Amino acid sequence: MTVMPSLRHRAAAKKPKWIIILVSLVCFVLIGAYVFPPRRYSQCYLSGSGGCTGFRDWLPSVTRRERTDEEIISSVVIRDILAMPMPVSKNPKIALMFLTPGSLPFEKLWEKFLQGQEGRYSIYVHASREKPVHSSYLFAGRDIHSDAVVWGKISMVDAERRLLANALADVDNQFFVLLSDSCVPLHTFDYVYNYLMGTNISFIDCFRDPGPHGNGRYSPEMFPEIEEKDFRKGAQWFAITRRHALLILADSLYYKKFKLYCKPADGRNCIADEHYLPTLFNMVDPGGIANWSVTHVDWSEGKWHPRSYRAADVTYDLLKNITAVDENFHVTSDDKKLVTQKPCLWNGSKRPCYLFARKFYPEALDNLLKLFTSYTSV
Ligand SMILES: *[C@@H]1O[C@H](CO)[C@@H](O)[C@H](O)[C@H]1NC(C)=O
Ligand SMILES: *[C@@H]1O[C@H](CO)[C@@H](O)[C@H](O)[C@H]1NC(C)=O
Ligand SMILES: *[C@@H]1O[C@H](CO)[C@@H](O)[C@H](O)[C@H]1NC(C)=O
Ligand SMILES: *[C@@H]1O[C@H](CO)[C@@H](O)[C@H](O)[C@H]1NC(C)=O
Repeated sequence: MTVMPSLRHRAAAKKPKWIIILVSLVCFVLIGAYVFPPRRYSQCYLSGSGGCTGFRDWLPSVTRRERTDEEIISSVVIRDILAMPMPVSKNPKIALMFLTPGSLPFEKLWEKFLQGQEGRYSIYVHASREKPVHSSYLFAGRDIHSDAVVWGKISMVDAERRLLANALADVDNQFFVLLSDSCVPLHTFDYVYNYLMGTNISFIDCFRDPGPHGNGRYSPEMFPEIEEKDFRKGAQWFAITRRHALLILADSLYYKKFKLYCKPADGRNCIADEHYLPTLFNMVDPGGIANWSVTHVDWSEGKWHPRSYRAADVTYDLLKNITAVDENFHVTSDDKKLVTQKPCLWNGSKRPCYLFARKFYPEALDNLLKLFTSYTSV
């Protein structure tokens, strides 16, 4: 009976001492961690090298890292381009920008498409291999200064930037469409013009592919400016607003990362033109892009190259089928081959996805010319 109170008294006397020791220990560890951050972790954090992936998951978010001068410059330039008013034009035009090795086999078809539309479009031709011979007067004198283009390399993006710079020089150009020598129009000019001018989003294809032909091409050297979770894929053929065209020319930070670390021959087989713009826009203006391309291509054969249409394939039914498609598909390149299917929403309502299509062999020209009026009539 007499022991109990003294025991209780002793326990009560010990408690504050323990708490003080514990609190001091915690403070000591916290101060130590703040003043001397563990070297190993910060190195992982900065280099993002493969062995560190386990640590990266619980490290603080990259936004807490001190940004480089280049990142600060880039973020203010991009922010203001996205917010500033664009020059107003009394004569809004669509810039049709052709990226081709040489002559364009479908000039006569484009001439038919553009008939009677003077003043509502402009044409730019970047011929990377040989000087084109023009079969339509509309294309004569429209070649811009060009340079060699190597498939998959940054020179493809350089050619796109060259076309954009030439087209931006005309303030009347409000929408910028990238086309290839194997592309053809699917609708009347009025339809295409209203479709593009009636919206302020850019049609840039963009999706996340966790497989070898998607994120498998991501290089850890792109870290920390570009994290793997931001890496995207998409077809090259875009139709973009003037604001986004300007933004592409203003970007040097992300462009440089792709120039240095996205190459076809470095083992990852990274194709710059399939990843640069989807990744850039996914990072800086995801709500400003449609995530699909208005240029149709048929990958359904599952080969290395998309289906190419010969003269005999070009029928009214084929073209009607393509123009009727109102959902876009993306397939991942991993073993799961996961398919995502989304409606093409134009200003909130479902509409046909495609304004142009590829790839057509030059021999398809006559059939296309014959069918143009019927397949484009709505
Ligand atoms: C887009 O949708 C909004 C709201 O439904 C409508 O007010 C606007 O006129 C539409 N724009 C076009 C170009 O149809
Ligand atoms: C498009 O324009 C409308 C009206 O001007 C604006 O409310 C909307 O935020 C714009 N959308 C984009 C993606 O810029
Ligand atoms: C495109 O995808 C991004 C990211 O998934 C999304 O935030 C954006 O809203 C999409 N764009 C449209 C127009 O739905
Ligand atoms: C067009 O689509 C229909 C229905 O999906 C299909 O049966 C037909 O084979 C298609 N025709 C061509 C030429 O692709």
